Amino acid sequence: RIAYVNGRYQPHRAAAVHIEDRGYQFADGVYEVVPVQRGKLIDEDLHLDRLEFSLGELEIAAPMERRALKLVLREVLRRNGIDRGILYMQVTRGVAPRDHKFPVMARPALVITAKRLKPVPAKYLEEGVGVITLPDLRWKRCDIKTIALLPNVLGKQRAAEEGAYEAWQVDPDGNVTEGTSTNAWIVTKDRKIVTRPLGHEILPGVTRRALLELLQATDFTLEERSFTLDEALAAAEAFLTSSSVYLLPITRIDGRKVGNGKPGEFSKRLRQLYLDHAE
Ligand code: PDD
Repeated sequence: RIAYVNGRYQPHRAAAVHIEDRGYQFADGVYEVVPVQRGKLIDEDLHLDRLEFSLGELEIAAPMERRALKLVLREVLRRNGIDRGILYMQVTRGVAPRDHKFPVMARPALVITAKRLKPVPAKYLEEGVGVITLPDLRWKRCDIKTIALLPNVLGKQRAAEEGAYEAWQVDPDGNVTEGTSTNAWIVTKDRKIVTRPLGHEILPGVTRRALLELLQATDFTLEERSFTLDEALAAAEAFLTSSSVYLLPITRIDGRKVGNGKPGEFSKRLRQLYLDHAE
């Protein structure tokens, strides 16, 4: 595999970053994961918009212009011969002697990798996946896609240990914020599709946004509002979205069945709607 590291294309085993990179020392950086289908980037500009937003919020300079970045992304895909998978890009504030405040001289550091992904296991689609729930321990700017992901890492690990796919994080009011790496959705018994509105509490998922836009052209009823864990437990369906798995039906929350315990009609149709958009 070939990675792009600060201007050079290198085999992974030869690629390295500096020990005083602020990403390593302070998690002072941001990232994006862009899905790739048939060798094409899905919703590339939405991902680059979000990257620019994250960089701007942290006052990290863009490592290169968008047009140049797009060329590099394609080159990384080409060199890795990736047809279906993901592109990962990470920008940190750069390399400087350890000191919390922003360095004066550092230039942002950019790493891009690509990974082939197998289709999601058929079992996930046929049986759905389980989620556990945890208090949301994250900071108050979850709308910035930073590489500081410790609560997310701990949550996903806990989920895995409990045989679940994802951990839904719950705010102090009992509302579900989102998963550790996915946005959260439910379908109520009266057939409304519900997902939390954007704000500082969740990542503005690109898959979430694409699906919302696709839904505008259908007769599904949408409600962008918070929902509680209790409401999710009483829902007809639940599902999650992200760039790496698109949309997965959720059939268990904390070990309790959602609806009849099988992937619901809406989840299946919405997954197909997104796949048609991605192809
Ligand atoms: N995760 N919420 C969080 C906290 C996320 O980290 C992600 C993405 C999402 C979904 O966003 P999108 O639809 O733009 O992928 C929601 C990526 C895939 C990751 O960390 O690997």
